[in-house]
Amino acid sequence: MRQPANRALGAWLAIWAAMLLVLILIGGATRLTGSGLSITEWKPVSGVLPPLDAGAWESEFARYRAIPQYEQLNAGMSLGAFKRIYLWEYAHRFWARVVGLAYVVPFAVFLLKRMVPATLKPRLVLLLVLLIFQAALGWFMVMSGLSARVSVSQYRLAAHLSAALVIYSATVWIAADLLRPTTRMLDPALARWRRRALAVVAMTSITAVAGAFVAGLRAGHAYNTFPLMGGRLVPASYGRLSPWWRNIFENIPAVQFNHRVIATLTLLLIIIVWVRARGRPLPGQARWALTAVFAMGMVQFGLGIATLVLAVPVVLGVLHQGGAVLLLTAALLLLRSVWHVAPVTSDLSITRLWPTRPPGA
Ligand code: HEM
Repeated sequence: MRQPANRALGAWLAIWAAMLLVLILIGGATRLTGSGLSITEWKPVSGVLPPLDAGAWESEFARYRAIPQYEQLNAGMSLGAFKRIYLWEYAHRFWARVVGLAYVVPFAVFLLKRMVPATLKPRLVLLLVLLIFQAALGWFMVMSGLSARVSVSQYRLAAHLSAALVIYSATVWIAADLLRPTTRMLDPALARWRRRALAVVAMTSITAVAGAFVAGLRAGHAYNTFPLMGGRLVPASYGRLSPWWRNIFENIPAVQFNHRVIATLTLLLIIIVWVRARGRPLPGQARWALTAVFAMGMVQFGLGIATLVLAVPVVLGVLHQGGAVLLLTAALLLLRSVWHVAPVTSDLSITRLWPTRPPGA
């Protein structure tokens, strides 16, 4: 397979990852502005157009006025205010459609041009399946807030964010694979760094999922002090729910405390790995990736404290969510930089990765 094909595929996936990041941020802004339940139906195709006249707006508004969120939180809301929340949710779904097209159309073109290596096809098909699953999961999440509750279920929100991070991470990994092919051989000298990088990726991911429960429960609007919570290190009502496991996912003080603790452990791990790397023979890519992880870890932790202490202003909430994705990106690139030995020459690695097709075959 020609190297230019890998670069084209890699560039496409890198751009697509950036589009996914924008989708995650719009999703965060949708949640933070309380807009997520403003569109009470899911019409993947016919819903592409927003209401175009007064009558259409009135019927959308009427559907929203029928759900508990309007009755209990937004009773008396003006049409203008409804349009503002509607447009956030509409923007999220619209960009989700654009992201879907930006995957399906190029993928089809690459396939038609026989530019996709056989070893890569299953991964790209799996990404497509995950994307469709994520869209359905998004609606499944919205459905949880249309009757009985005034917001979506924190479990489903966490699942939606987690799926977004899995799709994003897989895309970053495959794009890096295509843009910087490696020899697929594990360097025994880097085994310890692989374990450390893997731990950083794992801890960052666990912190992000724990954060989604904070977001889903609006737990950031309580205990707006740091490091203490209600004057104590561990909040008094940490274990008030039973059975005990419910505290981890449903009890506001426990959910926030857990996110704080896991985030602190993640930052400590990043600092230890960074200090351990001082003066050690690490591949060049690993060195800058680790610096990025260290810098992003500090920034993200600071953003988290600011978001909490200022009771989750929309902009800080979105920055904190975006910061989590950038930290995860840097951690993934760190892991990749110590995962496989860098190629002696790019041609050699390409032939190892995918059987080359003789010209004209
Ligand atoms: C590949 C497609 C999609 C991706 C990657 C994606 C990703 C996200 C992310 C990361 C969030 C923020 C969650 C958080 O802040 O904890 C979010 C929020 C949201 N998404 Fe999506 N989404 C997608 C498609 C959809 C679809 C199709 C719908 C609706 C049918 C949808 C509805 C929502 C809603 C309502 C919110 C705000 C939740 C709330 O009320 O708090 N998403 N999305």
